Amino acid sequence: MSTRVLTGITTTGTLHLGNYVGAIRPAIAASREPGVESFFFMADYHGLIKCDDPDRVEASRLQIAATWVAAGLDTDKALLYRQSDLPEVCELTWLLTCMTAKGQMNRAHAYKAAVDAATAAGEEPDANVTMGLYSYPILMAADILLYNAHRIPVGKDQVQHIEMARDVAQKFNHHYGQDFFVLPEAQVEAEMELLPGLDGRKMSKSYDNVVPLFEGGLEGLKTAIAKVVTDSRLPGEPKDPEGTTFIQLWDAFAAPDERAAMRAELRAGLGWGEAKQRLVAQIDRELGPMRARYEQLMNHPEELEAILLRGAERARAIARPLLDRLREAVGLRRSRLLPGRQAVAAPKAQLPMSKQYREADGLFYVKLVRGEQVLLQSSGFAQGREAGQWWARVRAEGSAAAVGATVCHPELDQALAELAAVEAAKAAAKA
Ligand code: TRP
Repeated sequence: MSTRVLTGITTTGTLHLGNYVGAIRPAIAASREPGVESFFFMADYHGLIKCDDPDRVEASRLQIAATWVAAGLDTDKALLYRQSDLPEVCELTWLLTCMTAKGQMNRAHAYKAAVDAATAAGEEPDANVTMGLYSYPILMAADILLYNAHRIPVGKDQVQHIEMARDVAQKFNHHYGQDFFVLPEAQVEAEMELLPGLDGRKMSKSYDNVVPLFEGGLEGLKTAIAKVVTDSRLPGEPKDPEGTTFIQLWDAFAAPDERAAMRAELRAGLGWGEAKQRLVAQIDRELGPMRARYEQLMNHPEELEAILLRGAERARAIARPLLDRLREAVGLRRSRLLPGRQAVAAPKAQLPMSKQYREADGLFYVKLVRGEQVLLQSSGFAQGREAGQWWARVRAEGSAAAVGATVCHPELDQALAELAAVEAAKAAAKA
């Protein structure tokens, strides 16, 4: 079986160059590997925890999906879908919620951070905590377990969530006595945090040092790169490229020979202004065609919609059968007394069956059997009608009416009750 690799992308805001280099590009490359089945989804249910503005929710999940497709994700191979197109995940969340200790959620980093922030601000500890934030890790566990994903590429901050997913999976498997869930493993991406922002710190929206990926077009890219912090050496002066923000950005978009060539030129005195122009051209060589595709997708959301709905359909083909098994396992199932279920739960031979027949002696008989076992055996009647009437009385009144029977098993009355239930259910199914 192939390895399932699953990544959720919270739909808040738009993406920057650091997201592209650290997450999107490597994930797309990994999804092309043989033997890998990749799942990418817009975690828009999660998005609601951080954002209660419907228009922003709508825009963000569209932009992020468009980014992944534009960046080259092969959606014939990988599954790309919106979390909320499969409300099944909410049902699994509930099943898992019922198996999760509250104490474990108290220890979740995101929740603790919110509590710490509120306490520091002199507020009630839970002042800014919704149940959505509190239960965040359970929804995330459901995202993963619903598809039996093996590997989850995440940043360090998410490792605890994957451990919680393993815990609840294990607990559920153990309690219900079957390996319903694969235990997922976090795959920590060291690379995810490598790209520096304009000021040399990690590129992050919270530092306001990002290079936008597609928003703002080529002009936006130029403006951002112009702000990359450098030393004040003038054109003609030799520069030491190693460790600079500039060269790290360059390296992220350059082949090995281009990396060496740029270093040589900077050492030989290439000016920062000129170098930055080349950096813009270098980045745009890769991103330009993607940006065009991105704009096309944003202008024709129906194309994207079709891709996402197809992804959801493929995801459902995996999720639905598992969820059906889980419902069955926890007891959310049709009563075992109903005929369809009985047939599944026990071999057919185990249902009581009545027979009316004529023997070689010319007499009419009735019997009730369960498989090989005879529960009732009448004596012989001269008329078929008499045999029928006798059987009708036994059915209505039980073993007490089985006058003259040559076999009357102690379980006869129980078997008659089963027979009645089966017939009632059949009649109800017909009605
Ligand atoms: N919590 C993740 C983040 O903020 C997003 C996410 C939601 C996710 N569900 C997931 C990641 C499932 C991996 C698997 O980055």
